[in-house]
Amino acid sequence: MYTEAMRQSIKILEGTRAFRKTQELGLMSPDEKAQLLRDHHPDYKGEQQRELRVGPSRGDRAPHEIADLIEARSLVDPEDFDLSRIDHDVDVLVVGGGGAGGAAALLARESGASVLLATKLRFGDANTMMAQGGIQAADKSHDSPSIHYLDVIGGGGFHNDPALVRALVIDAPKVIGWLEEMGVMFDKEPDGTMVTIHGGGTSRKRMHSARDYSGGDIMKVIRDEVLNQDIEVIEFSPVVELLTDGKGRCTGAILYNMETQEYSIVRAKATVIATGGAGRLHVQGFPTTNHYGATADGLVLAYRAGCELAFMDTIQYHPTGAAYPEQIVGQLVTEKVRGLGAQLVNGEGNRFVYELETRDAESAAIIRECTERNLGVVTPSGMRGVWLDSPLIEEIHGSGTIQRLLPAMYRQYERFEIDMTADPILVYPTQHYQNGGIVIDDQGASQIEGLYVAGEVAGGVHGRNRLMGNSLLDIVVFGRRAGAAAALRAKETVPGELGLDHVRRYHEELEKNGVETTRRAPMLLPDYRPDELKSHLITIGS
Ligand code: FUM
Repeated sequence: MYTEAMRQSIKILEGTRAFRKTQELGLMSPDEKAQLLRDHHPDYKGEQQRELRVGPSRGDRAPHEIADLIEARSLVDPEDFDLSRIDHDVDVLVVGGGGAGGAAALLARESGASVLLATKLRFGDANTMMAQGGIQAADKSHDSPSIHYLDVIGGGGFHNDPALVRALVIDAPKVIGWLEEMGVMFDKEPDGTMVTIHGGGTSRKRMHSARDYSGGDIMKVIRDEVLNQDIEVIEFSPVVELLTDGKGRCTGAILYNMETQEYSIVRAKATVIATGGAGRLHVQGFPTTNHYGATADGLVLAYRAGCELAFMDTIQYHPTGAAYPEQIVGQLVTEKVRGLGAQLVNGEGNRFVYELETRDAESAAIIRECTERNLGVVTPSGMRGVWLDSPLIEEIHGSGTIQRLLPAMYRQYERFEIDMTADPILVYPTQHYQNGGIVIDDQGASQIEGLYVAGEVAGGVHGRNRLMGNSLLDIVVFGRRAGAAAALRAKETVPGELGLDHVRRYHEELEKNGVETTRRAPMLLPDYRPDELKSHLITIGS
């Protein structure tokens, strides 16, 4: 329900709707975009980041919130940890119960490996489950993987790793077929062809969706298939440290059961990290679209084991997080809303940016509107946002479109007595995605033998800015590739020694470089308690 002041602002917006409906806004020029990013994108606030002082990417910049975890000590005390008992002995250990982990487990099993999937919360508690808008694939005659490739590279600011982008776009049509065969209910025209729409930065309509719960549908289907295949799944058991053999190879991991507070040792011929992103670190105090477990765990563990990181200085802020009502601040308002024609409108009733610019530019434009230009709309709690004129969707595509194509969105607002078919909704950027991450090759192999990586925790696919719909694609493409590659390695190798020398060395490096910290990582769960009640001092298993 809107306040009286907000209702007045909506009147102004309604007054310009007829004009705006016919108004053409073009893409900004490369120079305008570069200037906008420099001036208003949070990544460009130099004081909000610092250089890493230790590890293989020493000297690279990362947000303080991530650097703090990277420069922390292990949760495990290597001098005191009993590694003599092996609790699970498998070919492939998959760490993470989202789409990437599930896809990796399926392909590893299909390739003949014994597989254990360990996950921090429940299987499916992941950003995949919360993804709304869709998944890109160039599978129609007006499009091609080459055009998709160019869009991805352009969206990433021309910084992407070309081999990874190639893998992404080449596998995409096959991935859509694989998901559909397993049961994903993609939106279709009456004649059975897939519905495809635009997302920000796409030059062709290639966004496939399942209403506005595309990720939920994909996650449920992958999870069902993992369970159908009798793959062992251990829930509420995050990995707290990787194990290495003293020769730089990854040989397994230590799990920590959050219910019983016991730990267990997994020996694995290959390990796949698919732990997702870092939204719950709330970089620069932003709210987030991410699920509760998104605390950069895999990133921290792989780095400590010797993997380089790429593009850690760039975070994706989704342009349209909910800014009102208070209960849902930061939650995703899918880009599909803009893809269907909803316009961004400031407090004076004017559009200020073309709605399908890439997300980095779109977010920077909204931030500029609410800060430098002071044209945002203020909520009762003092938050600022801009209007997303959702009723336009009904005017463009006909009455009932929102309930048909955006049922989750509609319900999200209906719960708070906001009818987005009749009234606009208020939005502001929210932390959404970790553009960078662990360096991988096109088979998902990290720089550490025996360690594979898939999904948001990896870096390089998306350069400095991911396009909508390429994350659901990424998790399936690289989950499948990493799972198959891990299974292949398992066939060619014997189980290795289990050790924690890499942790010892990392602790020594912290000390040598004067990094004084009482913090331990991975964080496992976000800590929303006041600072004076927090403790980073608990060591597991010592
Ligand atoms: O806006 C969205 O639906 C988000 C999609 C994505 O991040 O790929």
